[in-house]
Amino acid sequence: MLNPEKGWFGEKQVTPEEKTQRVIGVFDNVASRYDLMNDFMSGGVHRLWKDRFVRMIRPRGSVGGVAQHYLDVAGGTGDIAFRIRKAAGAEAKITLCDLNDNMLSVGRDRSIDKGWGHDFSWVAGNAESLPLPDSSVDVYTIAFGLRNVTHIDTALREAFRVLKPGGRFFCLEFSRVQPDFLAKLYDLYSYTVIPRLGEKVANDRESYQYLVESIRKFPSQEKLLARMKDAGFESARYANLSAGIAAIHSGLKP
Ligand SMILES: C[S@@+](CC[C@H](N)C(=O)[O-])C[C@H]1O[C@@H](n2cnc3c(N)ncnc32)[C@H](O)[C@@H]1O
Repeated sequence: MLNPEKGWFGEKQVTPEEKTQRVIGVFDNVASRYDLMNDFMSGGVHRLWKDRFVRMIRPRGSVGGVAQHYLDVAGGTGDIAFRIRKAAGAEAKITLCDLNDNMLSVGRDRSIDKGWGHDFSWVAGNAESLPLPDSSVDVYTIAFGLRNVTHIDTALREAFRVLKPGGRFFCLEFSRVQPDFLAKLYDLYSYTVIPRLGEKVANDRESYQYLVESIRKFPSQEKLLARMKDAGFESARYANLSAGIAAIHSGLKP
């Protein structure tokens, strides 16, 4: 299967290895201001999307007496894992995996502030080669992460591999806005306001320019759905959020 995005870092063409290194660099730069910038850029709406995402998962500490294992890939500073922890309670096993140590380190500090310092496994790793055994996870989540991965199809196959039969996959990602007039307004906002906000708030225009460009390069709702099916997922579907600014894709490992 082709990976049409593998040579792209935003709108610049780079080698796949360079893309991975540049993505690490972006999140090294933004880690300390990441949470603040999310609120600035989205006016807090990212919190509502993440709440909806986790509600769709319906996290539970255990099923039939067996503790559930949640894997949050590209887990960053912990927004999804913390919501899962809150909903599922202490019984659930929650693993966060991320390519970037600085993002994980901010996440670890936040978990200590919440009094959950011992409740998560923090794993440095790549979504394309997860350091987890086959069929070991009940629920796989990835929020605003898949867009940054160099080989999307490899990451989807890895998600399928680590899930148990009957395990569920959930992806929250920026997507395609509809109708066209809204898409044009959204483009105007994102290409003009977001890089400027990045410059003013995080003193880093380039990383936020990458953010905007990477959104445009990411596959549409339907294309991602087709690629999930190619990776083996059944019952694959998606739900748009805010007219498609973001979308939640979900699927089942049979
Ligand atoms: C936009 S942040 C999302 C963080 C968190 N999931 C959230 O929703 O707030 C993207 C994260 O993906 C991580 N990332 C990028 N490429 C990755 C890869 N190939 N494997 C694992 N994590 C990756 C980055 O280091 C960063 O922490």
